[in-house]
Amino acid sequence: MNSPRPVTADDLPQVIDLLDTIFRREKGIVDQSVLSDFPLVFAAGNLQNCRVICHDGRVISHAAVWPRTMMIDGHRVGVGIIVLVATARDARHRGHAAALMKDLQDSMPALGCDIGLLWTGVPGFYQRLGWTLNSPPGWFATGSTAAVATTTSIIDYRPSEHLSDLHNLQQAGSIHASRTMAETGVLLSLPKCHVSVAVDGDRPGAYLVEGRAINKQGLIEYAGPPELVWSLVSRAASRTTTDSRLVVFPTHASLATFARDAGWQVQPLTSSKGLGDEMVLVLNPKIATPQILDRLFAWGLDQA
Ligand SMILES: CC(C)(COP(=O)(O)OP(=O)(O)OC[C@H]1O[C@@H](n2cnc3c(N)ncnc32)[C@H](O)[C@@H]1OP(=O)(O)O)[C@@H](O)C(=O)NCCC(=O)NCCS
Repeated sequence: MNSPRPVTADDLPQVIDLLDTIFRREKGIVDQSVLSDFPLVFAAGNLQNCRVICHDGRVISHAAVWPRTMMIDGHRVGVGIIVLVATARDARHRGHAAALMKDLQDSMPALGCDIGLLWTGVPGFYQRLGWTLNSPPGWFATGSTAAVATTTSIIDYRPSEHLSDLHNLQQAGSIHASRTMAETGVLLSLPKCHVSVAVDGDRPGAYLVEGRAINKQGLIEYAGPPELVWSLVSRAASRTTTDSRLVVFPTHASLATFARDAGWQVQPLTSSKGLGDEMVLVLNPKIATPQILDRLFAWGLDQA
């Protein structure tokens, strides 16, 4: 079997075609590509963390890790987010994906990862590789809201005016993904993600991201005081005909109360993505303690 190796820029068209076939076209999605959906995973600086196995010049299997730093109540935790693990249909069950995962898992400590984190529909595959299921703190709320009268001024995100304030709001959370402002700018401009801003005085006081992409669904990221966030949620929910899906972060527990009071269904979260099984791999038990794992919550737009 050919060995895993890092992706090169020349491999990218084939890698993207394989992944778009499996994660987009086979699911009926023709207006999204993993290249634009995961711009920071496929950025030049992260390509060495994307791995492939090739056979006769053809890319047949891929897996990547995207190293992030989560801040959890002042503790820095290096988190390797595993994304886009796939093998071409005609090459499955020959150990390719497992070989890529073992290669990534071996490389993660040197990348500063204390823990691995992923979301999946096939937990059995990862359990064999040492991963365990994780239930993050937080709630998942679904419901709808009639048109609301609010005194809060709500406007669409304008990067040139709002980026810096929104970045600062996100970074101020007691649990948050550490980002550069440039990363925040890229993430807030992901395809099919709409960002609304609540203006408090003459500055943004809160923001909300509503995802309508196959990989980003629902009200998945926000920052600012819960009351202002709830006015954004209410406005977003009043504008759709279907129930809205709100991931309630542990930092914003009162949103669960607001949602219940508004007649929404509120349930404990099983995955900080709201979907799929969440799994962790402890790489550094000194940092990834049970106490930290109990508080681990991955911020919306940093998820795969
Ligand atoms: C899941 C997937 C990546 C596995 O790729 P693969 O190269 O066939 O995997 P491997 O051959 O390395 O499998 C290793 C072991 O995991 C097990 N395994 C494979 N697919 C599995 C699945 N879907 N569920 C549970 N276990 C699985 C196999 O039994 C295998 O062990 P065995 O061959 O001794 O029985 C592939 O089926 C795929 O691309 N699926 C579609 C995309 C997807 O769901 N990706 C994961 C998203 S997080």
